[in-house]
Amino acid sequence: MSQLHQRRVIVAISGGIAAYKGAELVRQLKKQGASIRVILSRGAREFITPLTLQALSGEPTHTELLDEKAEAGMGHIALARWADLMVVAPATADVIARLAHGRADDLLTTVALATPAPVAIAPAMNQQMWANQATQDNLSQLSKRGLQIIGPEAGEQACGDVGPGRLLAPGAIVTALAERFTSRQLEQRRVVITAGPTLEAIDPVRFLSNHSSGKMGYALARACADAGARVVLISGPVELSPPDRVKLISITSALDLHKAALAEAPGADLFIGAAAVADYRVQHPASGKMKKGDDDTISLTLVQNPDIIAEVSHLERRPKMVVGFAAETHNLLEHARTKRANKGLDMIIANDVSAPQTGFGSELNAVHLITAATEEQLTLASKQVIAEQIISALAEALHQAAKSHPGS
Ligand code: PMT
Repeated sequence: MSQLHQRRVIVAISGGIAAYKGAELVRQLKKQGASIRVILSRGAREFITPLTLQALSGEPTHTELLDEKAEAGMGHIALARWADLMVVAPATADVIARLAHGRADDLLTTVALATPAPVAIAPAMNQQMWANQATQDNLSQLSKRGLQIIGPEAGEQACGDVGPGRLLAPGAIVTALAERFTSRQLEQRRVVITAGPTLEAIDPVRFLSNHSSGKMGYALARACADAGARVVLISGPVELSPPDRVKLISITSALDLHKAALAEAPGADLFIGAAAVADYRVQHPASGKMKKGDDDTISLTLVQNPDIIAEVSHLERRPKMVVGFAAETHNLLEHARTKRANKGLDMIIANDVSAPQTGFGSELNAVHLITAATEEQLTLASKQVIAEQIISALAEALHQAAKSHPGS
């Protein structure tokens, strides 16, 4: 399956003759299974219509920064946060200059500035404009800030010149974007991730459970597989397909999860507990369906489930890093710090599940990464972008640990 499958990509088209190739780029990205939102700059609309892009992307085309209707639907900040990736193609010399200077005077530049997702640009311009030191300085600024520069290629230009400045073919842009998601940061590493809820049976038809869609855990599994790790995903019942190249172990109850985790965790490089595990289970689930009686109330006796991640953290062959999540509704950081210490975790990821846009089932998340020595905030972004940021931080921590203790 393509690295771009189910990625949420903003394609921003700026005003040059190559704008028409933006349409082919959208078509090819869709073919890879990506979800697309298109931004057309004012200049681009001289070359290609919003309707063409709407037909190809299957979504309304975004054109104006201050458009009441658009802001009532998906406003510019929501659009910026929605994305897993933004690509500006073609990127004219003017757009490159405005991006380099952090301008936010139209929709394209504002979204590029506001998005927490990685941004790629595919330049296209006259060869003399490309060679100009001003353009090269702007590009080098953008590259230093982590933007991916794709192309251009050399060849015959629309103006009759020959030289570098032609937009790379849409197929080559797609390949470069896909490669962005294949880092080798976790090559040779084995990662075990738990995700989703657990279900604790009351009788054969009823259960106690926790909220969890599995989205955060599955996004982490995908990010680890993209980084080259061998990934085992132990998941409670969710309505998601497992990412490619990930071994899925499906479980139902906390006791199932406990058994699977203790079998898979020893010797792993990384264990991440994103599952919402029920802290208690019914002591004696009924063997047949319980019938409604005359009493207004019934009582269930609950017993505590094992604290799985704490056990993993104290294994003899303990994973090199054990990372938990703390889903909290109040005193987020305080509770998370205490949980990290009590469970013996290397890191805890504090997750405010009372905030309207984050937490259970949401598409976005915002978290704090807490270790014994450091605390880092990751601001609101798609769960996939948050997962990539978390995995990048954990890969770096594993790398540093390997440098300080070679052979361990
Ligand atoms: O699945 P989504 O809809 O995308 O939502 C994501 C999420 C909010 C479920 C996820 O990001 C999250 O915060 N997961 C942990 C939720 C939770 O139950 O936290 P907790 O504070 O109860 O547990 C702390 C840690 O201990 C967690 O890593 C948990 O997996 C682990 N735990 C808890 C209880 C238990 N008996 N065994 C455990 O291993």
